[in-house]
Amino acid sequence: MTSFSIGDTDFLRDGQPHQVISGALHYFRVHPDQWQDRIRKARLMGLNTIETYVAWNAHEPRRGEWDATGWNDLGRFLDLVHAEGLDAIVRPGPYICAEWHNGGLPNWLTAGERSLRSSDPEFLVDISAYLRRVYEIVAPRQVDRGGPVVLVQIENEYGAYGSDKAYLEALVTLTKDAGITVPLTTVDQPVDQMLEDGSLPALHKTGSFGSRTTERLATLRAHQPTGPLMCSEFWDGWFDWWGGVHHTTEVDAAAADLDAMLSAGASVNIYMFHGGTNFGLTNGANHKGRYLPIVTSYDYDAPLDEAGNPTAKFFAFRDVIAKYAPVPEELPTAASPSPTLTVPLTPVGAWTDAPAADAATETPRTFDALAHLSALARYDVALPPTEGPGLLSLEEVRDLAWVQVDGQPIGTLSRTRHDRTLRIPAGRTLSILVEDQGRVNYDHRLGEEKGLLGTPTLDGILLTGWHSTPLDVAEIARTLAARTDAAEAGSGPSAWIGDIPLDAPSDLFLDTTAWSKGYAFVNGFFLGRYWRNGPQRTLFVPAPATRAGNNRLVVLELENLLAPHAELVAGLLLGDTEE
Ligand code: GLA
Repeated sequence: MTSFSIGDTDFLRDGQPHQVISGALHYFRVHPDQWQDRIRKARLMGLNTIETYVAWNAHEPRRGEWDATGWNDLGRFLDLVHAEGLDAIVRPGPYICAEWHNGGLPNWLTAGERSLRSSDPEFLVDISAYLRRVYEIVAPRQVDRGGPVVLVQIENEYGAYGSDKAYLEALVTLTKDAGITVPLTTVDQPVDQMLEDGSLPALHKTGSFGSRTTERLATLRAHQPTGPLMCSEFWDGWFDWWGGVHHTTEVDAAAADLDAMLSAGASVNIYMFHGGTNFGLTNGANHKGRYLPIVTSYDYDAPLDEAGNPTAKFFAFRDVIAKYAPVPEELPTAASPSPTLTVPLTPVGAWTDAPAADAATETPRTFDALAHLSALARYDVALPPTEGPGLLSLEEVRDLAWVQVDGQPIGTLSRTRHDRTLRIPAGRTLSILVEDQGRVNYDHRLGEEKGLLGTPTLDGILLTGWHSTPLDVAEIARTLAARTDAAEAGSGPSAWIGDIPLDAPSDLFLDTTAWSKGYAFVNGFFLGRYWRNGPQRTLFVPAPATRAGNNRLVVLELENLLAPHAELVAGLLLGDTEE
C-alpha cells in the first residue's frame, strides 16, 4: 500500500518528497463514456493527479433520491483515474462554487430555513447524510487502501463566505468519522483574512489564483509556515456568461505562471485541465450587483477544449511539466473531423401552453414552492376590466420573463437589466412565462428563490388569483420527439424537430446562430441552453449521445428561429474574445 502524508516541506508519497501536478476534471461535466479519454490525455500532458469536485445536487436533486450511477458514478470515475496510474483529489464541498448551479447545493436544501454553510444543527444533519454517502465511495479508494485518492478538501474558499470555525470542525469530524485518513486541505484566495477564516490549524492551507505566482505563494506561506505549498486552483482560463465575451488567457503567460509554480517546488491543481459542458440546466450564475448567468460551455480555455481536444495550452503546459517530471512521449491522437451539414427543421407547434395548474393562489408561487427543478414556469392571471393600457409592475423577476396578454407577446422583463415594469394593453388574461437562468453559485445569494417574486400590480392594484404552472422542458422535448406531423406555432414559443443522419457516432457542433433562445436535445440527451445573446454559438454534442443512422434533434425555441434549419459545423464557436 502506498502512503501519502504531509512532511515538513513537502508532500510525502511512500516517504519520498512528491510534487502534486494535478488537473481539474469534473465528472459531472463530461459524458461518462468520455471520462477515460480525458483522463488518459491528462496523463499524456504529464499530470500525475486528477482533481474533481462532487456536485451534491447532481447526486440528490430530490431529497433522499440519491444516485451514484451513470453520470453520477464517482466510484467508476475514480477507478478510471486509478487504472490510468494517476492519483486523485476529491473536493466534496458540500459547497463547491464551480459555476455550477447553486454552487452544488440541492434546491430542496436551500429552500428551507437552514443557515447555509454554517454550524446550524439542521444544516449539519443534512450535510452529514450527504458526506457519509460520498465517503462510502471515497474512503475505500484512498491511497492507503490501494486506491487513487491522496487528498480531500474541506469546504471551498470558505474564507470568502464565513468564519464559523465550529462548522469547519464539524466537517472535519464528519470526514474523519467516515474513515477518511488522507491529509485534509482547505483552499482560499490569497488574502490574509480569507486564509485565516477559511481554515483550521489542523488543516493544510492552500491557495487559489491564476497569476502573480511568486507573490501569492509568499502570502500563502505566511499562513501555512510548514509543509508543501500548493495552489489548489491555478486558473489557466476563465468562465463565460451570457451577454459577455469569451474569455481566453495568453498561452505563454499561463505557461510562465505554471513554470514559476513548479520551479518554486509548489504543488498545483490546474483549474481546469478540461472544463467540459454545463449540459442540461446545470449552469450557475454570478451576481455582484448584476445577475450574470453562466453559458452552457465550460470550455474555460483549458488545455483540453470543450470537446476534449488538446489546444496550444496543452502542448505549452506539457513542455513546462517536462522540465520537472517525467512526461510520456505519446501524444493524444488527433480528433476525427466532425460532419458538417444542414438539417431542415419541421415546426411541431407551441410547447408552453400546457393547461394552467388547477388551484389558484393569491400570489404567484415560486419554483421553490412548487419544488420545480426545470427551467420554466407559466403564471396566468385574469386581468380586471380596464379602459386602456396599464402599467404592470413586479417586485422582481427571476430571471427572464416573456409577457403575453390574451396570447399576444407584449415584451420581456429581465433581471439582468433590472426590469420591473411593462406597459400592457387591456385584455382578459395575462400570462408570464418565467425562466430560471441558473442559480447563483458564489457569495450570499445561494438558494435564492426563482420565478415571480411578490404580488404583481396593474396601475398599483394588486393582481391576485394566480395559476402557477411548472413546465418541464426535458419532458416536453421527450413528448415532442416522437411527432411526425408538422404543426405551425402561433406568435409565441415554437418547437422544432429534425433528423441528423450519421454514418457513425461522432462529436457534433450544433451552430445555434440562427436561433434566438431556448433548449436543444439530441436523441433525448439535453445539450443545454442556447441564446443569441452570446458569446457562445455552438452546442457540443458528445459522440456517445449520437448513433449511426438518424439522430432526432428537438429544439424548443422561446422566441423565433431566423431560419428553419440546424447547421452542424466543424468545430467549437465560443464567441468573440476581448480585443
Ligand atoms: C473559485 C472557486 C471555483 C471556481 C473558480 C472560478 O476559485 O473555488 O469553484 O468557481 O473560483 O472559476
